[in-house]
Amino acid sequence: MRDSIVEDAFKQACWARDHAYTPYSRFKVGASLIVKNNTKIITGCNVENISYGLSICAERNAIFNAVQSLGPIEIVFLLLVVDQDTPVSPCGACLQVISEFSQPKTIIHLCNLKGVQKSLKLIDLLPFPFIDFHSSE
Ligand code: THU
Repeated sequence: MRDSIVEDAFKQACWARDHAYTPYSRFKVGASLIVKNNTKIITGCNVENISYGLSICAERNAIFNAVQSLGPIEIVFLLLVVDQDTPVSPCGACLQVISEFSQPKTIIHLCNLKGVQKSLKLIDLLPFPFIDFHSSE
C-alpha cells in the first residue's frame, strides 16, 4: 500500500472528524476507508443523538456510506482519528460491521491528530468474529 494513500486517507478522516456532531460526549472521531479495486477514499464521522443509544460511530458511518455509493465492498484498510495520545480501537459493534466487509488481513490504522500511531490487522482486534450461521429450519 502506497504511504501517500494512507496520508490522503488520514487527511480526509481529519476533515470528516471536523464534521462530527458530538454535543454529548465532546469526543470527535473521523474515519476513512479504501476498498478493493477502487481508489476512492470514503469518510465518516460520529453523529450523536439526545437519545444516546441512537448515536452512530464514525467507522459505521463510513462503511454505510461506502456501501451506498459502491455496493458490496471489500475494505483494504480503515483508518480512524481521534484527538488523544493513546490510540483508540473501533468499538465492538464497529468491529463486527467492519468484519462483514473485510478480510482477516484488513488493516485498521489508529491515528491521532499527529498521524498513524498503530496499525493492526482486523483479526488481531476481532479474532473470532460472527461471520457464519446455519438456520435450524
Ligand atoms: N465513537 C466512534 O465514533 N468510534 C469509536 O471507535 C469509538 C466511539 C464515538 C461514539 C460516541 O459518539 C463517542 O465516540 C463517544 O463514545
